[in-house]
Amino acid sequence: MIKNTFPENFMWGGATAANQVEGAWNIDGKGISVADVDTYKSNLALDDYEGHVGVTLDKIQKAMEDPSDKDYPKRRGIDFYHRYKEDLALFKEMGFKTLRVSIAWSRIFPTGEEQEPNEKGLKFYEDLLTEMQRLDIEPIVTLSHYEMPLHLAVKYNGWEDRKVMDYFVHFSKVVIDRYKDLVTYWLSFNEIDSVERHPFKTAGIIPEQCPPGKEEEIVYQALHHQFVASSLATKYLREVSPNAKMGCMLTKLTTYPNTCKPEDVEATFKKNTLNYFFTDIQVKGEYPPLILNMLERKNINIKMEEQDLQILKDYTVDYLSFSYYMSLTESKDNSLEKSAGNTVVGVKNPYLESTDWGWQIDPLGLKISLLELYDRYGIPMIIVENGMGAKDEVEADGSIHDQYRIDYFKAHFKAMKEAIDEGVDLFGYTSWGCIDLISAGTSQMSKRYGFIYVDQDDEGNGTLERRKKDSFYWYKEVIETNGASLD
Ligand code: BG6
Repeated sequence: MIKNTFPENFMWGGATAANQVEGAWNIDGKGISVADVDTYKSNLALDDYEGHVGVTLDKIQKAMEDPSDKDYPKRRGIDFYHRYKEDLALFKEMGFKTLRVSIAWSRIFPTGEEQEPNEKGLKFYEDLLTEMQRLDIEPIVTLSHYEMPLHLAVKYNGWEDRKVMDYFVHFSKVVIDRYKDLVTYWLSFNEIDSVERHPFKTAGIIPEQCPPGKEEEIVYQALHHQFVASSLATKYLREVSPNAKMGCMLTKLTTYPNTCKPEDVEATFKKNTLNYFFTDIQVKGEYPPLILNMLERKNINIKMEEQDLQILKDYTVDYLSFSYYMSLTESKDNSLEKSAGNTVVGVKNPYLESTDWGWQIDPLGLKISLLELYDRYGIPMIIVENGMGAKDEVEADGSIHDQYRIDYFKAHFKAMKEAIDEGVDLFGYTSWGCIDLISAGTSQMSKRYGFIYVDQDDEGNGTLERRKKDSFYWYKEVIETNGASLD
């Protein structure tokens, strides 16, 4: 019989990333990361979406010489580094069962090349995770979320070089050793597929350091190193913490054909196949034949060591996680009106509304995504990012009436429930940016995702005071009733 509640022990919670919340970018021994050179943008132009969003060696140099956070909002975050206890208390008040956080690699290994970790960095996460344990909030820890040490990008062109893989595995082992008694759920790479869309942010690849015409090959080389690194981290986790679980994380870019014209359907199939490539490797442990063929046709040669394919096969993930914000539409016709969101561009879908930032809202697309993924892989799943970036207004009495956000979540939760009722093994949900934070794409503060408002503007002015939005109370009730209040 179908119940009106979610499965027992469903992990309700929220998600953050170190570089978007912590601030404290240059204290307690932290090294500069790729996020610390990311500048504010008022919005991303459509043209930027498929490119590198303008990173150059000059810009990096300028950023490295600039000691302030004025133009670099991720350096200040929302000061979670100093306020995490207050924030965790608010999450607990909402009833969070889980919280997704990431570990800033450059807090532990400032340049990435050190052998000995920075104790102050390790201690920070130990304190954070211990406080979560005290509050009975289960951590989900991402090892890499757009915040690798900048030094590795400049010196090695990031993940192009296999040495970076070794440094990452070393980092993973150190943090797994230190936190294995505090953490069960690990994620290796956030949105691993995003290396294709923003190679610098995700993998430290700098266009000027790529020989002409070799950029795409370098992207696939970097990806290969990340796949192997993820498997090696999984291998180590199994050895030292047998009950722990390693997951992969995909940007689920669900794509519909714009028409039933077979050409549109074919183009859509190819888009979706490319999106599945990443989870195919991490869940099934093999490069899919169609992708290998595509790489060959593009003359892309990935350098692999003898044991790599076996490592991928032997150490696949325990669970699949993904982000879902919107769906896309594909057509062979290039003249149609476009719509962009989350660094991807598609044809505008006339049946969907969009957020203030133009991301198309599609709750049914979430259900479709869950069904597709579960049908393809059949392993436990968790949604680790979902939500809407919006402009919020604070009323004179300090309240924030974000009914649009409640509507967005309500529709998506209902879609999740339907997928569960149709057989999908979904064990949790963490909304993106459960507290307002710095946007990954634009570094804006004004693009707010949270249930908790943070008093800070795009320029960094504000008291950083936390306020509960209407959605705070709404989500609390959803969690308290395990979804029954949605009816
Ligand atoms: C996901 C990222 O792609 O999208 C997050 O993993 C990011 O880091 C989120 O914040 C929303 O994107 P944006 O650009 O609105 O912050």
